[in-house]
Amino acid sequence: MDSPERITFTQDVPLTRLGAAGDARSAASQRLAGLARQFFFRNRLDRVDFDAPILARGTGSVVEDVDGRQYLDFNSGQMCAALGHNHPRIVAAIRESAQTLIHASSSLFNVKEIELAARLADLVDRPLQKSFFLSSGSDANEAAITVAKKYTGGYEVASPHVSFHGLSDASRALTFAAWHRGYGPYPAGTCAIVAPYCYRCPLSQTFPKCEFACLKTSFELLDAQSAGAGAAVITEPLYSAGGVIEPPPGWLRELKLMCEARGLLLVLDEAQTGLAKLGSMFAYQREGVVPDILTLSKHFGGGVEISAVVTTPEIEDRVASRGMVFSHSHTSDPMACAAALASLDIITRERLVDRATLIGLYWRQKLDGLAARHEIIGDVRGRGLLQGIELVRDRETKEPFFDAGPRIADRCLNRGLLFSVRRKGSVLRFVPPFTTTESQMEKAAEILDGALSAVESR
Ligand SMILES: Cc1ncc(COP(=O)(O)O)c(C=O)c1O
Repeated sequence: MDSPERITFTQDVPLTRLGAAGDARSAASQRLAGLARQFFFRNRLDRVDFDAPILARGTGSVVEDVDGRQYLDFNSGQMCAALGHNHPRIVAAIRESAQTLIHASSSLFNVKEIELAARLADLVDRPLQKSFFLSSGSDANEAAITVAKKYTGGYEVASPHVSFHGLSDASRALTFAAWHRGYGPYPAGTCAIVAPYCYRCPLSQTFPKCEFACLKTSFELLDAQSAGAGAAVITEPLYSAGGVIEPPPGWLRELKLMCEARGLLLVLDEAQTGLAKLGSMFAYQREGVVPDILTLSKHFGGGVEISAVVTTPEIEDRVASRGMVFSHSHTSDPMACAAALASLDIITRERLVDRATLIGLYWRQKLDGLAARHEIIGDVRGRGLLQGIELVRDRETKEPFFDAGPRIADRCLNRGLLFSVRRKGSVLRFVPPFTTTESQMEKAAEILDGALSAVESR
């Protein structure tokens, strides 16, 4: 792999107490679990497990529970610690803010938000130039949709059926990957389109012979349903929570053309794909498609909550002159903006685009090696720091192996490897931080290998 001297923070932490297998829980840990059971509202995205490790600290790619057991964090926290847990430059930026200005009025400009807007304009492609900052990824997508509505005067918004854009009411309305039922009614005009899930094409087509039949069918339906008030299509460039599903080459370009033909804005949600994670600064660059609106979140703040909405001067000018307001109490907080500035410094100075490519290639080799040995791996996909495997009962029929994922994940967690399980248990998703070393990937692959064998043999 590449020499790490350009990286200031690789943190090959000695793995002396990896996993919890066979260990009894300390009294302190049991007490905390009891308090959680008693007082915590069970609202998590994933299954609530009061017996799971309780995290206390982290550095680089390793987190530690209250009993000092270590876990290789191939989920990067909730994907927000991709720069590595507690990166020293993020820590320094937070410390400096704590001594200058943590929070400020959102009616006045503060130094850090101006610097951040200018810095981001430098990083994205023209004509994107104008930014504003919010807290979560859901906020940013909701705001992007508001911009699209104000700009077009329409209200109809579509999103692919495996996309995830957040769990606020407005962003959940456009989240079709899961977590959609039981929260309605949703705003009028929200609609799903057929996602380019080539491993299981919903239209039983094969790429490239299909000539993007998914898009053509989707737009035929959208056109038929439209009340003539189209505003936008929002999509991830690679569907993370939906199961690490990557659109085929050319799909995004075709989507942009179809949006343009109808006066719809294209909103790209790069929460999980932007800022170097996939081996390019932004995923849209690989396709040569600049969106009308770009949203960023997750590791944008290096672990601190901040998101961005970035658009063109033309769009900004029209919606601003129409009096668009979108602001929260913590909009553009100087501390969050300072963390994001430090994060952009790390990403560019430490050449994390190259680092993601190298880690991605190394990890892919490991996953391909596992697929060669384990029949239940039906597909390996993704790139850079976002890769996954789809589990099947049979490679020919591709019957999803829903029960396998949680069992493999539990076994791995016990042995010190953390990752997430998606698509009702049939997809394992790996998001190792940029700090992950070869030896950590070797160890992770060894743990995964053991868990796959155990589940296969039952
Ligand atoms: C692609 C994408 N967009 C938006 C969100 C929502 O972000 P947040 O949880 O910060 O609201 C997520 C969260 O996982 C995401 O993966």
